[in-house]
Amino acid sequence: MKNVITIDGPSGSGKGTISKLLAGKLGYNYLDTGALYRAVAWKVREEKTDPDNEEALKRIMEDIKITINGDRIFVDRTDVSADIRTAEIGELSSRVSAKPVVRAGLFSLQREMGLKGNVVIEGRDTGTAIFPEAENKFYLDASLEERARRRYRELTLLDPEASISQTIEDIRNRDARDSSRESSPLKKADDMIYIDSTHLRIDEVVAKILDHLK
Ligand code: DC
Repeated sequence: MKNVITIDGPSGSGKGTISKLLAGKLGYNYLDTGALYRAVAWKVREEKTDPDNEEALKRIMEDIKITINGDRIFVDRTDVSADIRTAEIGELSSRVSAKPVVRAGLFSLQREMGLKGNVVIEGRDTGTAIFPEAENKFYLDASLEERARRRYRELTLLDPEASISQTIEDIRNRDARDSSRESSPLKKADDMIYIDSTHLRIDEVVAKILDHLK
């Protein structure tokens, strides 16, 4: 493995912020795999596809062209970077990500991007299914309430109507779905370093990760 660091964890655990900072410090690339599932969800909504229709999802996966350019993500030629960050797309991405046809469709894209090396890759299954052989694997966690507070702060930037109780409920449902699906569920593997960030500042989490790097 050529310097692949994986960071998995539930919604709001701080994976995104931490991974970006860590990649910056190391001069590595950063791959947000959740954005790929969100991009698929965006297309599913755009085409008014039933997210439980496996045949239709299969067609979408055959056709879709996802490209990443710096911090922008494109579906076909549309820049969807902002549109994929809503609560609605978060929910839909969790539903479509449970479908094996969607996971299979995104597998090689993630492998290709990661195999270039010098990369921090974050998601739900990056250390279990995408890069099980990575030498540095982390599992980032935080209490449900703290994760909901973080997500709520992000959401209110886009949607002033977002509510904290609804955010807690959404995260609880998303955790349950992401951890209980059959296909590559979110799970801490024995060879991952576990970090609970509930009471840690961002720079403290980054420092802990840097300390553990092999
Ligand atoms: O991290 P996020 O909220 O952007 O991820 C959106 C959804 O995508 C999440 O609810 C589950 C799914 N996902 C996944 O199944 N596997 C990954 N490696 C990353 C995200």
